[in-house]
Amino acid sequence: MGFSTSKRVLILVPLILLVISLSSLNAASNFIDEARSLLKWKASLNQTNPLLSSWILYPGNATNTSSSSHLETNASPCSWHGIRCNKAGRVHVVNLTSYGLKGMLQEFPFSSLPQLAHVDLSVNELYGIIPPQIGHLSKLIYLDLQINLLSGKIPPEIGLLTNLTTLHLSENKLNGSIPRDMCQLRLLEELALHMNRLDDSIPSCLGNLTNLFWLSLYNNSLSGSIPREIGKLSNLVELDLDTNHLTGSIPSTLGYLKKLTVLHIFDNQLSGPIPEEIGNLESLWI
Ligand SMILES: *[C@@H]1O[C@H](CO)[C@@H](O)[C@H](O)[C@H]1NC(C)=O
Ligand SMILES: *[C@@H]1O[C@H](CO)[C@@H](O)[C@H](O)[C@H]1NC(C)=O
Ligand SMILES: *[C@@H]1O[C@H](CO)[C@@H](O)[C@H](O)[C@H]1NC(C)=O
Ligand SMILES: *[C@@H]1O[C@H](CO)[C@@H](O)[C@H](O)[C@H]1NC(C)=O
Ligand SMILES: *[C@@H]1O[C@H](CO)[C@@H](O)[C@H](O)[C@H]1NC(C)=O
Ligand SMILES: *[C@@H]1O[C@H](CO)[C@@H](O)[C@H](O)[C@H]1NC(C)=O
Ligand SMILES: *[C@@H]1O[C@H](CO)[C@@H](O)[C@H](O)[C@H]1NC(C)=O
Ligand SMILES: *[C@@H]1O[C@H](CO)[C@@H](O)[C@H](O)[C@H]1NC(C)=O
Repeated sequence: MGFSTSKRVLILVPLILLVISLSSLNAASNFIDEARSLLKWKASLNQTNPLLSSWILYPGNATNTSSSSHLETNASPCSWHGIRCNKAGRVHVVNLTSYGLKGMLQEFPFSSLPQLAHVDLSVNELYGIIPPQIGHLSKLIYLDLQINLLSGKIPPEIGLLTNLTTLHLSENKLNGSIPRDMCQLRLLEELALHMNRLDDSIPSCLGNLTNLFWLSLYNNSLSGSIPREIGKLSNLVELDLDTNHLTGSIPSTLGYLKKLTVLHIFDNQLSGPIPEEIGNLESLWI
């Protein structure tokens, strides 16, 4: 009895040690995978930003390899400029706004950064399409790609990012229609698609995004009428639909937007009177 118990313990101890060392190895290799995937994207970019010289795998000198924490501290991207990690050391924020990046999003590690929640790549010279793989970033809360040179259609896969509260794709060269899939983004508070080349009509299902407080679609080639359903956006503070090819009359349902303070609808082909209901709105700037 005593013999077999101690024998079991003897077998268990190395097993536990093996499990512990395997899981710490696993954590370290996660950091390295995340770092490598970011470096692969960096290598695809044409950039000369000195801040990005902090993006290297082993900043320490090779003479320091004896340190046991070497692998984890040096291979982790958490200390790189523009990167922030969560407590578990996984990449949580990529913020490279105004870094002078020239290149495409094709090599961006959409599938290698499972904890990524905030992406700000605004004000760079990113061109080419927004890859459909962007739909893999399921933890994303904040996505800002504004003021770049991105073209092609907005991928419908963006509708998979149901945790998004902020989506800024404005001031690019995006064309095609506003995907209906965007109406799945129920937590969205800010949707900015202005200054692109979007055409077709405004999807009426955008009226389901009842958390929106800013909807900005100005300076595109949107046609058709302003959907009555926009009147369901009861949290809307600013609505910018100007400089498009919108036709028809201004829906009276806009009168339900009690929080609206800015309504921009000029420079369209709208007809008919301004509905009385809109006149009832307090604190409105047209
Ligand atoms: C990188 O950008 C510079 C300046 O715009 C340009 O001269 C060079 O050809 C580009 N290199 C590549 C590989 O695109
Ligand atoms: C090597 O490690 C020592 C002690 O941790 C540190 O003082 C030194 O700056 C390191 N050298 C390099 C080149 O990282
Ligand atoms: C490593 O450290 C030595 C001595 O401090 C230095 O001469 C060498 O350039 C360093 N190597 C790198 C890759 O930083
Ligand atoms: C990104 O960095 C800029 C400038 O440092 C800052 O204003 C902005 O709030 C940051 N965005 C995110 C999502 O952290
Ligand atoms: C949204 O975030 C929560 C919490 O991080 C996560 O559990 C959930 O899977 C995310 N949603 C999607 C569609 O992945
Ligand atoms: C949309 O933009 C892409 C890429 O610039 C272009 O190839 C395509 O012809 C454009 N489509 C339309 C309908 O303009
Ligand atoms: C609309 O946007 C284009 C660039 O996309 C810009 O050149 C033009 O001046 C803008 N028009 C207005 C009226 O803002
Ligand atoms: C979303 O909006 C569309 C069109 O306005 C409507 O038919 C649909 O029932 C709405 N869906 C939900 C879940 O509210």
